[in-house]
Amino acid sequence: MSDAPRSQSAEITPEAVESAVAAALTAIAAAADTAQLKDARAAHVADGSPLAVLSASMRQVAPEHKATFGKLIGQGRGRVTQALAAKEAELAEAETAARLEAERVDITAVPSRTRVGARHPLAVLQDHVCDIFVGMGWEIAEGPELEHEWFNFDALNFDEDHPARQEQDTFYVDPASRHLVMRTHTSPVQVRTMLDRELPIYVLCPGRVYRTDEFDATHLPVFTQFEGLVIDKGITMAHLKGTLDHFARQLFGPEAKTRLRTNYFPFTEPSAELDLWHPTFKGGARWIEWGGCGMVNPNVLRAAGIDPEVYSGFAFGMGIERGLMFRSDVQDMRDMAEGDVRFSEQYGMVV
Ligand code: DAH
Repeated sequence: MSDAPRSQSAEITPEAVESAVAAALTAIAAAADTAQLKDARAAHVADGSPLAVLSASMRQVAPEHKATFGKLIGQGRGRVTQALAAKEAELAEAETAARLEAERVDITAVPSRTRVGARHPLAVLQDHVCDIFVGMGWEIAEGPELEHEWFNFDALNFDEDHPARQEQDTFYVDPASRHLVMRTHTSPVQVRTMLDRELPIYVLCPGRVYRTDEFDATHLPVFTQFEGLVIDKGITMAHLKGTLDHFARQLFGPEAKTRLRTNYFPFTEPSAELDLWHPTFKGGARWIEWGGCGMVNPNVLRAAGIDPEVYSGFAFGMGIERGLMFRSDVQDMRDMAEGDVRFSEQYGMVV
């Protein structure tokens, strides 16, 4: 009992007050977080701390000194309280900032999701067709889309007033004196190939063609064809039929086959309409019209400088959009032209 009251009192001197205040200020300044500040408060401000003991000792001070000592201690406590409050605010702010930093969500970051695109189904189908012919040892040939009228029509044995030559069917390009057209079919590549390449010729010519057609569910003014051409010695229509049947089986399964119906094209003689037996057609197996074919007209061979007495050949041409329509059950051709990625995405990488 005798120690306790004594520990609660101390002699009040300016030095004792200054030293208690200085110790409190040092501890407050050194606190690195709110927990340490709490400890500093307990050690230097709370009951039992030197400053608190000095305060309590006021009771023993003679009345005439109370004002002086009271002021001394009051000012000391004031400094400490102020320092505590300032430090408390500073630490709270720093801790909030640290937490916000730690929990930061960078809403400006570029998302790491990369949208996976898909090749256009027309391009995929075109590649597939090319692969089938390349697999038979054929080459791929290409020609310009802006074509000379001579390659597009004359060399292919179209006469002057063939309806396809009319302006309502064909895009002519100014100036008229240059006789340039947007090619209306891939057949001019036949002529270019015969002029450019060595015989024999086994080529497939895919590419875009242009006609003044309506833009509707079954027509596009810009569409894609592929053209086959074989020139060799002793080529007959049996080779044409065998090639087309093989092609049909590769693309439409083992039960697919082709049928030829007589028709007319200026650049083939005889000419035929090509029908495909589509065994897996949605809605039931059936015949589908898919292009033209025939034996290369001797006039076309002559235009390309090939002797029809020595060489003969066959040719065929089909539309890729139409092929995609009945192979993948596309109802509206415009979907193929409009460029909405949701259309392509349905196909992924496979047609
Ligand atoms: N060029 C024709 C068209 O666009 C298609 C065609 C028919 C191509 C007969 C041929 C062929 O090679 O022999 O309508």
